[in-house]
Amino acid sequence: MASPANSYRLLILPGDGIGKEVMAEVRRVAEWFRDRRSLPIELRQRPFGLASWEAYGSLMPDETWAEIEAADAILFGAMDSLDQARKISPEERRKGSLLRLRKSLDTFANLRPIRAISGLLDASTLKREVVDGVDLVFVRELTGGVYFGEPRGVETLPDGRERGINTHVYTSDEVERVARFAFELARRRRAEGKPGHVHSIDKGNVMEAGAMWRRIVQRVHDTEYADVELHHMLADNCAMQLIRWPRQFDVIVTDNLFGDLLSDCGAMITGSLGMLPSASLSARGADGRRRALYEPIHGSAPDIAGKGLANPLAAILSFAMCLRETLEMAPEAERLERAVDAALAGGARTADIAAPGSAGMSTSAMGDAVLQALDRA
Ligand code: IPM
Ligand code: MG
Repeated sequence: MASPANSYRLLILPGDGIGKEVMAEVRRVAEWFRDRRSLPIELRQRPFGLASWEAYGSLMPDETWAEIEAADAILFGAMDSLDQARKISPEERRKGSLLRLRKSLDTFANLRPIRAISGLLDASTLKREVVDGVDLVFVRELTGGVYFGEPRGVETLPDGRERGINTHVYTSDEVERVARFAFELARRRRAEGKPGHVHSIDKGNVMEAGAMWRRIVQRVHDTEYADVELHHMLADNCAMQLIRWPRQFDVIVTDNLFGDLLSDCGAMITGSLGMLPSASLSARGADGRRRALYEPIHGSAPDIAGKGLANPLAAILSFAMCLRETLEMAPEAERLERAVDAALAGGARTADIAAPGSAGMSTSAMGDAVLQALDRA
């Protein structure tokens, strides 16, 4: 095994609710790759979120933050929504928020792949023939736009009315870097035999910043990526087209807000949020490495937390993305993705993807099914 000095330090932040349960399965899978494939992985784990607040009085203890700084990648579970009932100060909320984590790591490119899995086509509310063969990926800008723009807040006007403000704002360099990321990804996908084209999504018909987005994506394309096919589409039309004919898409690049909305729309193509992984990546540093945060798209699901019902596949597939993007070991990522497919083909189902009327297996039984498929491969 490689010495720790040459290994990738992966920090597991299980967070809250089902985050703890699904990340326990990710840990077993990561240990399998470390022990059975001799991958240079060093696994660490720290508390984060409400679980941490209850135990240590902080959503994000300083030691957790130090571990985040030192990690090559973060494997994140889920964070509970901070309802008003809990007396957590606004300052503490800001300190421990997922948005702060994304911003501090500058993980501006959020990859959300949506792939129809043949054994699961009937889990979608869309018709089989619409869903079959879908293989697209969102590149959502993650550290700018209206989720971060200033001014923001709610003020009371002299006449007693309230005024709520958020600001949608992008600078040209923010658009350029995410556009480049999308074009690079399209080239990579083309080399893998996929269509490898890009749809850029905006509301340039009503928003100046949207028209600027479109102009800049086009300029980056014309000057650096003229070999990649580029289409522009308005965000409302894109929502419709994702339901009507999702196979027309390959890479979709869009801003923070539209990416949030459209990726949930895309998620329903596969039928379950429990299946969808994501990766959030920064630019490469001087040492060539990217900061990276891997997380399932689903949340902490308090209604089913602690019952062993959660589907761990989104989190496990997020670890596959870590193998591909952080360790740059695409064959190992594919090994894991094939094992997930094999487990599903063998009938492994948690409740969210089980046939109507059948109970579905537990979170850890699904973990077992993936590990068994890895052993067999
Ligand atoms: C997502 C989520 C988050 C977001 C929330 C939990 C802050 O919806 O990752 O899509 O809005 O980005
Ligand atoms: Mg969302």
